[in-house]
Amino acid sequence: METKQIKVSDPNALQIAGQILKQGGLVAIPTETVYGLAADVWNETAVTKIFQAKGRPQDNPLIVHICDLVQLERLTRQISSTAKLLMKTFWPGSLTLIFPKSNEVPDVVSAGLDTVAVRFPSNPIAQEVIRAAGTPLAAPSANRSGRPSPTTAQHVWEDLNGRIDAVLDGGACEVGVESTVLDLTVCPPRLLRPGAVTYEQLQELLGQVEIDRAVCHPVEVGGKVSSPGMKYKHYAPKARLVLLDGSYEQYCAYVNAHSSPETAALCFSGEESGLQVQTVTYGSIQDDSGQARDLFDALRQLDGQNVSLIYARCPQPTGIGLAVYNRLIRAAGFEVISLA
Ligand code: TXA
Ligand code: MG
Repeated sequence: METKQIKVSDPNALQIAGQILKQGGLVAIPTETVYGLAADVWNETAVTKIFQAKGRPQDNPLIVHICDLVQLERLTRQISSTAKLLMKTFWPGSLTLIFPKSNEVPDVVSAGLDTVAVRFPSNPIAQEVIRAAGTPLAAPSANRSGRPSPTTAQHVWEDLNGRIDAVLDGGACEVGVESTVLDLTVCPPRLLRPGAVTYEQLQELLGQVEIDRAVCHPVEVGGKVSSPGMKYKHYAPKARLVLLDGSYEQYCAYVNAHSSPETAALCFSGEESGLQVQTVTYGSIQDDSGQARDLFDALRQLDGQNVSLIYARCPQPTGIGLAVYNRLIRAAGFEVISLA
């Protein structure tokens, strides 16, 4: 069955999306970070279908999306003062918090963990869909497992047409990388995934925040991870991707000396002229938000080209740049060459 395409300009868009979700269907919805594949959190059958549509491993838990703070009460056992401070400062927005889970949350949502991840998105369409569905929505990124997260309805369509009931087209996502994930069930709070709410911002508010080792390092085979999503190969392009850490001059010299017709360069915009291979850009060097916004589309473009090797320019791992670095280093399978 073909997936229904709903435009937000359709006056009935929210009502249609809400109805499908109420009946246990799957709808891909825009959020400020990336598109999410949503289902009614209380409907186990519907949530199970998310895993099937994405080809997602069953042990990788989902984020629950809410549109007001009252919805949080039934999901969690305890809301600490630290959680309240974070919610007051960063919600609605791209920060996911890990809470002790209430007994009512189905095991399929939390993949059997005794914690639950919750986010209050700032995107008004996302909020209105949750309201129209009348329930919190469990929603992972709306890509096939292993593909870059979708930042447009077109990306969702490429990956999931025929596998889900509908996609609600709300245009391109503002942020472009998935939310920051912060575990509040440990002390000090632990950053499991960097995003637009930055480590620096969290540290300034909370004093102490730990960055999980898996953010910047490979997880050892069989190793224990705080966030199951960290252990999967993510965002892996078909071609081998290598991160090159150095100046623009060093980057150009290396790429030009080590290229074949099947090599591409993933560089910052404005840097194309120094390179003798095909280029795809992701933001400009000074603009880490632009890098985040463009990254996944750039990786998808590269997948559409006939290349076997991609040399990627290394982002500065500060601010939202840490999120960009975290996604790229996974796409590279942690292969980094230092040119300095
Ligand atoms: O921006 C986002 O967060 C997007 C949009 C749709 O909201 N969602 C998203 O979901 O990126 P997903 O499923 O692709 O990533 C969720 C991440 C995974 O790495 C998962 O392992 C982790 O959050 N996670 C979920 N529940 C968890 C829990 N209880 N404890 C630790 N990690 C958890
Ligand atoms: Mg994902």
